[in-house]
Amino acid sequence: MRRPRSASLEPLAGVELDRLDLDLGERSYPILIGPGLLGSSDSYAGLPRSRMAAIVSNETVAPLYARALADALAARHERVVQIVLPDGEAYKDWHTLDRIFDALLAEGCDRQTVLYALGGGVVGDMTGFAAACYMRGVPFVQVPTTLLAQVDSSVGGKTAINHPRGKNMIGAFYQPRLVVCDLDVLDTLPERELSAGLAEVIKYGPIADPSFLDWIEANIVALRTRDKAALAHAVRRSCEIKAWVVGQDERESGLRAILNFGHTFGHAIEAGLGYGQWLHGEAVGCGMVMASELSARLGLMPASFVERMRRLVERSGLPVTGPALGAQRYLDLMRVDKKNEGGEIRFVVIEALGRAALRPAPDALVAEVIEACTA
Ligand code: NAD
Ligand code: GLY
Repeated sequence: MRRPRSASLEPLAGVELDRLDLDLGERSYPILIGPGLLGSSDSYAGLPRSRMAAIVSNETVAPLYARALADALAARHERVVQIVLPDGEAYKDWHTLDRIFDALLAEGCDRQTVLYALGGGVVGDMTGFAAACYMRGVPFVQVPTTLLAQVDSSVGGKTAINHPRGKNMIGAFYQPRLVVCDLDVLDTLPERELSAGLAEVIKYGPIADPSFLDWIEANIVALRTRDKAALAHAVRRSCEIKAWVVGQDERESGLRAILNFGHTFGHAIEAGLGYGQWLHGEAVGCGMVMASELSARLGLMPASFVERMRRLVERSGLPVTGPALGAQRYLDLMRVDKKNEGGEIRFVVIEALGRAALRPAPDALVAEVIEACTA
């Protein structure tokens, strides 16, 4: 597997406007990273002009940032409407999606209307799915406001809602036209949410870039204390790796599955406890410890790797022990996973630092991992 080019990790770059491009032929788009971007009309300069635009956000984020975004868009669109959803993973469902369609129709939004997803991964995933479906597809822009959304969910075009039987089970691949990662909005993010975002930053190390894993370990305190230069580097490097993976395998026919390191166990935790009990990033953090344990028990990685991952996840402020749902319940939940084939659960495991693979594992071994990693 080809590696992304290695990062220049020291010294950290200054906090300046930065731009990456996700190369997907005619569906290519820029990812802007820097401070002060959300409220600047320049950030949106390359987008189609349309009469109408809709900012889709939630009741927490809209009061903080919707006005600044609407002002920045005023020169591009005659009318900018706001659609404010309830906040939380528990609302990432069909009913809330329908509220977006209701509002778009009630406001007279046409096929040229641009949707702007202003919020974390929940708003981004739902707005993207709404954009994919509304009038058979309208343009949309990601304005991610959580660390998790800036480093992962806003990039790559996975859109979805949850089903009570499984996470993100109903959705579409639908790429945004632009991603605007404004580092300043991370100032208002609750600490628990910042930690949740760090889980998705950490995952890029073991799956693709050992030197990034070293860097995260060395800078975890700076990241948790919101040092702007450290956050800028973490967002940029994460987006680079994600763009590199998605650019080769947009629809997850192979390579892209590595981005789900920790997610098989993590999704079982989220669905098993009920969506919203553990944050997605918390479940992924703990899931990475479990997937590392599985990699070790399969003989692929040494026990020291599991300890390294456990320590880093813990230092990020994330749980490292899974809820005691029982091995059978975990296995039942993990059987409802998009990566599975022919009823066989497939896990992302680490084969060597910086190299991941999708593999099945015997139920008995997985049950041992669950017993060892839950309480
Ligand atoms: P989230 O969207 O629920 O946001 C977390 C919380 O932070 C919410 O309460 C939100 O209102 C609040 N918030 C957001 N920005 C804020 C800000 N700047 N200041 C203050 N509060 C703010 O959760 P998330 O962690 O961003 O996203 C998790 C979701 O992302 C899950 O549903 C997961 O499945 C999805 N996801 C999708 C992909 C993908 O590729 N599409 C990848 C990873 C995760
Ligand atoms: N977050 C996993 C993916 O985008 O494929």
